[in-house]
Amino acid sequence: MDKMLLDPFSFELPTTIEYGVGSLLLLPGKLRSLKAKKVLIVSDEGLRKTALIDKVTDLLEKENFQWDLFTEVEPNPKDYNVERGAEKARSSGADCIVALGGGSPIDCAKGIALLATHGGRIREYEDRSRIGEKVLPLIAIPTTAGTGSEVTFGAVITDTREWFKFTVKSPVLGARIALIDPEMTLGMPPALTASTGMDALTHAIEGYTAKNAEPIGDGLALYAIELIHKYLPSAFRNGNDIEARAGMILGSVLAGLAFSHSDVAAVHCIAEALGGKYDLPHGVCNAVVLAPMMEYNMDFCREKYARVASAMGFSFDSIEEGSRIAVRETMKLAEEVQLPSFSSLGIMEKDLEELAANSARNGSNKDNPRPMNKEDYLGFLKDLLKKG
Ligand SMILES: [Fe+2]
Repeated sequence: MDKMLLDPFSFELPTTIEYGVGSLLLLPGKLRSLKAKKVLIVSDEGLRKTALIDKVTDLLEKENFQWDLFTEVEPNPKDYNVERGAEKARSSGADCIVALGGGSPIDCAKGIALLATHGGRIREYEDRSRIGEKVLPLIAIPTTAGTGSEVTFGAVITDTREWFKFTVKSPVLGARIALIDPEMTLGMPPALTASTGMDALTHAIEGYTAKNAEPIGDGLALYAIELIHKYLPSAFRNGNDIEARAGMILGSVLAGLAFSHSDVAAVHCIAEALGGKYDLPHGVCNAVVLAPMMEYNMDFCREKYARVASAMGFSFDSIEEGSRIAVRETMKLAEEVQLPSFSSLGIMEKDLEELAANSARNGSNKDNPRPMNKEDYLGFLKDLLKKG
């Protein structure tokens, strides 16, 4: 008897997903359906230098929408980015937010949509009971294939007093509409394709093996693993390969749906501790920890790892062999897309205690398949630093 079949679960999705090459063109109609008149576009300085923002503003101009632009979103978005953005939303009289970019602008936009109507400081809403029903409606347009934030309910924000990443999470924060247009990712440079792609793979593998995983998320995660394993190397080698870009952005959406309905786990706990402390790219932090953590968790989810190997297209004679293949192939993929090693990130021995403590207090630690406390994280991090 499969025990999971008898476990209750619920699956909620407040986001309408519009997927397709050219789906960006649906934006004006979607804004009208939300009765929006004044739009605040939330993006970042990197995108300001590309043609992507112009694509959006040209559409809005053509259809006579008023708009304003907020691009003060830093990587690993900071609490003060959200607070400044909310001031801008209020002063400009915005009635809708359009988030354009990777995880940082989309997460920041969720915080802005919340603070614009609730006031206060973003850290207060880590306590989700403080989040009421009324937030500004959000349309999310991802330009990377990694975060999944366009379909998740959470925003990860850095508290700059503690240099600790915290999560604000509620279905109310989910985008009302996600426009998933593979063309919007064509210009991504190879290193960003690699790090964001490995973030998406981490979402799928952690979402699938998290303690509170449920069957709908499992189905989504396994297909996400198949797509990301198949298409990440070609998207990395040739950024203009539209089939590979489409496979990756679809994989990242499916992975986002999976983990937002279950959870991420210890890889993200460490990645968020590293991102909070050293401001390192989130995808790189995940990529360097993913395969070693799979090895560490192995005895607690062998069967699931074997299914990960199947999703990657491998056949094998035993669960033991399949689970080893999943770890090996994950490591190979990170090498193939030239992600750096753990020891090259500048992580200092003297910081490991603090990193271990922050990993253990992360809200997702409870969902790692293998129970881990601060000492376990410390031992794991010491080993990883030694191995390089
Ligand atoms: Fe992530």
